Amino acid sequence: MFDYTNQNVVVVGGTSGINLQIAVSFAGAGANVAVASRNIDKVNAAVALLNKTNPNGNHLGVSFDVRDQDALTQGFDVIAKSFGHINVLVSGAAGNFPASAAKLSNNGFKSVIDIDLLGSFQVLKQAYPLLQRPNASIIQISAPQAYIAMPLQAHVCAAKAGVDMLTRTLAIEWGLEGVRINSIVPGPIADTEGFNRLAPNDALQQKVASSVPLQRNGQKQDIANAALFLASD
Ligand code: COA
Ligand code: NAP
Repeated sequence: MFDYTNQNVVVVGGTSGINLQIAVSFAGAGANVAVASRNIDKVNAAVALLNKTNPNGNHLGVSFDVRDQDALTQGFDVIAKSFGHINVLVSGAAGNFPASAAKLSNNGFKSVIDIDLLGSFQVLKQAYPLLQRPNASIIQISAPQAYIAMPLQAHVCAAKAGVDMLTRTLAIEWGLEGVRINSIVPGPIADTEGFNRLAPNDALQQKVASSVPLQRNGQKQDIANAALFLASD
């Protein structure tokens, strides 16, 4: 349905799960795609998949931790040299583990804030000068924890609520320049690290599915389709 030929798409945290499916779907729709995450083996495997999906695209991978400002700057320099400009930025790097607030250390809380919230801000700031104006599109991958309080998720609830307010605020500031910014809030998505950490067995995953209006958990492709739609003209 969508043609992203000659468009440059960057997916931060795009080497596994939901974000990898988003990256592959943009490549399948013709885009040049750059993916970034910490683990170089995951980065290389993702780039191989992008090349297989769309051999005509100019795909690349860079390795950085979104908490490492210098590595982030270097990674975006590599992307800038290859792409020149960015049409679509997807920011989806995140960390999650279930932990009760009473037992969670300050550093455990901080690590998720640093990855999800500060990391998103740093990624968006790095991409900002490269965004094609007008019509660039940013998509933040948020989570229901942004507005639904959940036990064992104080750190993630706080972080993702911040991510959503960042999205709303930048929509006002950067929207004036023709940069759109939206947030996708996936529900429980089957076959993902995030869902497996929160519902670590089939019985729990089935129980969650029964509370979803469609009576099934989401598919990674559902979220990828939403991303392609949101970034389209
Ligand atoms: N329960 C309680 N605290 C935990 C924890 C858990 N399951 N896992 C990590 N922590 C705490 C650690 O104890 C540490 O705090 P401390 O220094 O006070 O002991 C702090 O979190 C950082 O842990 P560390 O292992 O050094 O972090 P990291 O930077 O290597 O990894 C995480 C970051 C913890 C978020 C890790 O789970 C990760 O890399 N996640 C990415 C993948 C993911 O979460 N996918 C789902 C996306 S929704
Ligand atoms: P995932 O497979 O673990 O994806 C996380 C991605 O981010 C990986 O590519 C990971 O690669 C990268 N990453 C993690 N920490 C990073 C860091 N510090 N710096 C750079 N990259 C980092 O998880 P997922 O379940 O698909 O989740 C993807 C997104 O969807 C997240 O934003 C999550 O909050 C959101 N979400 C998921 C669900 C769900 O049901 N799964 C529901 C709602 C929202 P490396 O390990 O190589 O760094």
